[in-house]
Amino acid sequence: MKIITAQAPVNIAVIKYWGKKDENLIIPLNDSISGTLSMEHLCATTSIAFSNEFDSNRMWLNNVEVKIEDNKRLVRCIENVRKLAESTIGWPSDHHIRICSKNNFPTAAGLASSAAGYACLCYALCKLFEINDPKIISSLARLGSGSACRSIYGGIVRWIAGYDHQTSIARQVITENEWPEIRILVCVVNDHRKDTSSTFGMQLSCQTSPLIKYRAEHVVLEHCDQITKAIMERNFEKFAEITMKDSNQFHAICQDTYPPIRYMNDISWSIVNLIHFINNLFGYNVACYTFDAGPNACIYCLDNNVPILIKSIRRMFQKSDGTELAINGITYQTDQINIDQKLSDYIDIRKRMGDDLKYIISTRLGSGPKILSNQYDSNCLLSANGLPKN
Ligand code: DP6
Repeated sequence: MKIITAQAPVNIAVIKYWGKKDENLIIPLNDSISGTLSMEHLCATTSIAFSNEFDSNRMWLNNVEVKIEDNKRLVRCIENVRKLAESTIGWPSDHHIRICSKNNFPTAAGLASSAAGYACLCYALCKLFEINDPKIISSLARLGSGSACRSIYGGIVRWIAGYDHQTSIARQVITENEWPEIRILVCVVNDHRKDTSSTFGMQLSCQTSPLIKYRAEHVVLEHCDQITKAIMERNFEKFAEITMKDSNQFHAICQDTYPPIRYMNDISWSIVNLIHFINNLFGYNVACYTFDAGPNACIYCLDNNVPILIKSIRRMFQKSDGTELAINGITYQTDQINIDQKLSDYIDIRKRMGDDLKYIISTRLGSGPKILSNQYDSNCLLSANGLPKN
């Protein structure tokens, strides 16, 4: 009997992955770059037990049983680990696994949970079978969900598109400690609409959008090179500009898809406009926004500018019961912050009273996955009988 519990982070792309040149191996059309968020505030946790006392492989995700055999990607990750384990500790045919996984953020937050989920599953599985090479773990995570390969590293990470399983790999650009001032504010939008999944959305874009080809051939590499240079020079001004342009181009591709896909809503747009207004007013890029396959805004900024951003967003998005919008994660004192008259006038005309935002998660860059324990302790999500604790 072996048991392991691991934790893996969420990542938010600043240069987006959208489109595959190989659907089966999940080889992307273009390179992408993301920030790995601190696991203190957002993460997936997975426990895996391995024993000859279990009669079958079973899995639970957020307390609901998932049929492994119905999920092609899940089966593939497990089968790949089984093969790799032949050269480590082996996986005898009378042994089975039990997997229990959960996210520490509500699924309703609409955050890309598949990246953290697959990163955690593959990391835990590999560590259980003593497969330790992060390159191998990252490639396995990619087979689960493309963006998951970036969650195997901390700090800022580039996924090099490549052309096959060996060449499509993620690499760390800088560690989380090399640009410690970076902060991320995840604005969770109140929206119950079910979004088009990334997997399906990017397929449709590849089939119908002329813009996606143009982006892959003429824009993304330049964006990647420019933003990498900005990151190496800790040039937030340039980093912010490229991040916003790349997000905008990704959503332009969604609109160029036929039928069109709309991930951003009016609330998302009011955040875009607010950020541009603030940047114009201050005369430099105080912050930048980026949106994935949903309406939530992820704002990247530097530590010293968080209070003015929080104060502005709280004033723009008021709660109907008169309470202040909640900030989870890193807390900031905003009482002493004065809002400029022009900014105040701008917000007063546009302010929204309808509980448009649920809350904000305020976080920083963080490390890659880690092992929480190797035994049935309080961190473990499984009981010794191989069933979820709750
Ligand atoms: C918009 O990794 O979820 O978040 O590989 O089909 O599982 P699959 O797609 P997924 O796509 C993420 C798309 C994105 C941009 C990004 O994270 O780069």
